[in-house]
Amino acid sequence: MKPVELKKGIYWVGATDWAVRDFHGYETPRGTSYNNYLIKDTEITLVDTVKHDFSHVTLENIKRLVDPSKIRHVVINHIENDHVTSLDKIMALSPEATIHITERGKKGLDRFFDTSKWNFNLVKTGDTLKIGKRTLIFIETPMLHWPDSMMTYSPEERILFSQDAFGQHLASAGRFDDEFCKSESMVELEDAVVDYYANILMPFGPLINGKIEDLKKLGIEPEIIAPDHGVIWRSHIPKVLESYLGMANGKAELSVSIIYDTMWQSTERMTIPIAEGIRDEGVNYKILKLRATPMNVIIKEFWKSRGALIGTPTLNNIMFPSVAGFLSHIRGLRPKGRIAGSFGSFGWGGGGVRDVFAKIREIGLETFEPGFEILYRPSQDDEASCYDFGKKFARRVKKYHSTF
Ligand code: FEO
Repeated sequence: MKPVELKKGIYWVGATDWAVRDFHGYETPRGTSYNNYLIKDTEITLVDTVKHDFSHVTLENIKRLVDPSKIRHVVINHIENDHVTSLDKIMALSPEATIHITERGKKGLDRFFDTSKWNFNLVKTGDTLKIGKRTLIFIETPMLHWPDSMMTYSPEERILFSQDAFGQHLASAGRFDDEFCKSESMVELEDAVVDYYANILMPFGPLINGKIEDLKKLGIEPEIIAPDHGVIWRSHIPKVLESYLGMANGKAELSVSIIYDTMWQSTERMTIPIAEGIRDEGVNYKILKLRATPMNVIIKEFWKSRGALIGTPTLNNIMFPSVAGFLSHIRGLRPKGRIAGSFGSFGWGGGGVRDVFAKIREIGLETFEPGFEILYRPSQDDEASCYDFGKKFARRVKKYHSTF
């Protein structure tokens, strides 16, 4: 894809990755893009690079606009591999350029490359760089989502280069949000934002309110938000900000995700009467089988719902491995404001449901009475108990939801 002009003299020079389906374990059925930006001012400036597989693509894009040896500044907002692993190729052509990066970013970069011959300027929040008509302001955003992370703002153009924040894993023909919504839909774009937030930014929600306040204090009111993945925001900025603030403040739907796995369909059979009980309390639900659904989709649906019921068979007296994998993932994401319970079947001594219950308590989720389990196949009486369990859980979810 050729360079795309955001504003006069400011270009997207990145790469669209239509083929990626596994992004460090994150399933990306819609592909992604690696966005970086070139500013043609008195001192030519590149903001971020792209994943190493696409070095030639960004270099071709840059060469369509300028001679790379004329680049004077390279801003590195974030050092994760998908954004810096073309830096050596850029610096080979622009050896005189100065790299502007946080101190933590520089420490990380030293582990990727021999940086001894490169020029650096270590920046902090509020530091500025005049590149001609335009100024760049740097804003550190540690743990959003890496220790090194920062954003860069051009007040003259009101463009915020936001690195991963506000990104989405989407490959698309249109580079801007309105173009995407015209050819696809806002619903799909919002879904991609929630998916990205749930899987990448969930642990850092408590920092987001503060950082958005910091941006306001610095007088940052962008007309364009240019993230490092997916579409560039210019038509729906209030909407994406509202979405982030909502998620940071624990917003969820009054719904239940029934997340389960099964060996011989006994736990699976329990999901239907449980779901009917939930529905009869006026609460929506989704049923998600772990081995049939990408993990990032399960994480997204878990995050969207106020309640989750985790179903497991018992295998060797403990929970099923795929359920353990899911809970391990959730533990790292440190969700807040969600209530969970456990259910499942067993054949001998049981143990899986207790195991899940102990784990959801350890994770720090609000918990719903010790789990519900049945022996072998659910009988008609068991199915009636499943229905009651679903109703009771839904009532508790409604009560909990009303506290937000
Ligand atoms: Fe897109 Fe944190 O890298």
